[in-house]
Amino acid sequence: MPIIQLIHGEKRYYFDYDMAKRLNGGKQMRNLWVIPAEKHRTEHPAEKPETLLTRILLLATREGDTVLDPFMGSGTTGVVAKRLKRNFVGIEIDAHYYAIAKARIEGECGDYPAVNLFAGELPFGE
Ligand SMILES: C[S@@+](CC[C@H](N)C(=O)[O-])C[C@H]1O[C@@H](n2cnc3c(N)ncnc32)[C@H](O)[C@@H]1O
Repeated sequence: MPIIQLIHGEKRYYFDYDMAKRLNGGKQMRNLWVIPAEKHRTEHPAEKPETLLTRILLLATREGDTVLDPFMGSGTTGVVAKRLKRNFVGIEIDAHYYAIAKARIEGECGDYPAVNLFAGELPFGE
């Protein structure tokens, strides 16, 4: 899945270069990422790996920011946003997938486990 960031003019986006280095063992993160596939948690055919969304949200948002996913699918972005203490707004056109995403995200809002990102607990790729 290609991720393309289009930037024009003034730098008004957030990118945590220090976090990128820390997640990559102290080396500058490359722009080609290899993220291991993960077992699907839902029946959505295009469910993304939580590891991928975790990396994206850690690099591009701060705690308390609001993340919008207008094509929410099974809600992976929302689950990860909640886990990382970001606010989340999701849009999904398919009522069945919306219900799956809602249940998944609400399940994440309760007593979710703390993840130590620097102790090798998440299988980040190269
Ligand atoms: C590639 S999937 C998203 C997968 C998601 N990232 C996940 O991890 O499950 C795209 C989703 O966008 C939804 N979608 C397509 N057109 C839409 C629209 N106009 N408005 C809202 N959702 C839409 C589809 O139903 C589909 O579930």
